[in-house]
Amino acid sequence: MPIITDSASARTLLADPGATVPGPDPTARGPLADLRRGVSRFANGADHAHRRNTIEVLLDRLEPAALAADAAARARDAVRAGSRDADAWAIRRIPAAAIAGALGFADPDAAAVEAEVVADAYRSGATSPAVDAAAARLLHAAGGDRPDAALRVQLVVQAHRATGDTVSRAIERLAQASPETAVDPVLDARHAPDALGNPVVDAMDGALRAAPVATTVRVRAGLRVEVALADPVAPHSTPPGELLAFGAGPRRCPGTAHALAIAGAVVGELRRADGSVGSC
Ligand code: HEM
Repeated sequence: MPIITDSASARTLLADPGATVPGPDPTARGPLADLRRGVSRFANGADHAHRRNTIEVLLDRLEPAALAADAAARARDAVRAGSRDADAWAIRRIPAAAIAGALGFADPDAAAVEAEVVADAYRSGATSPAVDAAAARLLHAAGGDRPDAALRVQLVVQAHRATGDTVSRAIERLAQASPETAVDPVLDARHAPDALGNPVVDAMDGALRAAPVATTVRVRAGLRVEVALADPVAPHSTPPGELLAFGAGPRRCPGTAHALAIAGAVVGELRRADGSVGSC
C-alpha cells in the first residue's frame, strides 16, 4: 500500500470529500462485527455524518475539566497504590475508565479492560472468541438496545490506546529531558496560564508530533493509501489539538479536547509523584 508521509499532502487527502475509509466486512458476524458496523470510524457518506453528529453531541456533554479532575484522582489513587510507571495497567486504564465513567457506564474499570481486549480487533476486524465476548459486554454495558450504544462503546475504545500511548510517550520525554532544558517561550505564551507547567506541555507536544496513532487509511479512486500522522516539522506555534496526530478534515478526532485534558492530567500527576521525572 502506498504511504503518504508529507504532512501537507496528508492534510489534503484527509480533507478530500472523495476519500473514503475502508468499510467493515458486510459478511462478518458477531459482536465485534456489530460494533464495527455501528460506529462512525468505519462508515462513509450519510451514515458517517449522522453518527459523527451523535458523537459530537455525546462529547459536548463531557466537560474536559471534569474529565481531567477524574483522571487526576484516578492517577493519584494508582500512584498511592504503588504505580508510577506510565505503562502500568493502573495508569493505562485511566483514559478509557474516565470516558466510560462520564458516559455513565456502571463499571468504568471493567469497560477499560474490555477496551484493551478489543483495541486491535476494533481496528483490523480480526476477531476471536475473547474479543467477541468483550465486545458483547461493552455493548451491553453501553445500553444494549439504545440506538447510540455502539457509538458510546466507540468513544471508550478510541479513547483508550491513543491517549494511553500519549501519556507513556510524554513521560518518556520528561524522563529524557535535561534539567537545563530551557523553558520554551513560544509554548509558554501559547499555553499560559497553564496549570500543568511547561515541561508537561512540551512533553505532550513532542509525544503528539510523533503521532500516537501512527497511520490511518483512505481509499481514493479505488486505491488504498496509508497516511502517516507524524508531523515533526509542524510550525512551532501549532496548538497541540491541531497537530496532524488528531487527523484532519471531516473525520478529524472529535475527542481532541478530552484527550488533551485526560492525558495532561495523568502526566501532570505522574510528574508530581516523581520529583525526579523531568525535573531531576
Ligand atoms: C491523544 C489521543 C488521541 C489521538 C492521537 C487520536 C487520534 C485520532 C485520529 C487520528 C482520528 C482520525 C482517524 C482518521 O481520520 O482515519 C481519530 C478519530 C476519532 N477519535 Fe480520536 N484520538 C485520541 C483520543 C480520543 C479520545 C479521548 C476520544 C473520545 C473521547 C476519541 C474519539 C475519536 C472518535 C469517535 C473518532 C472517529 C471520528 C469519526 O469517525 O469521524 N479520540 N482520533
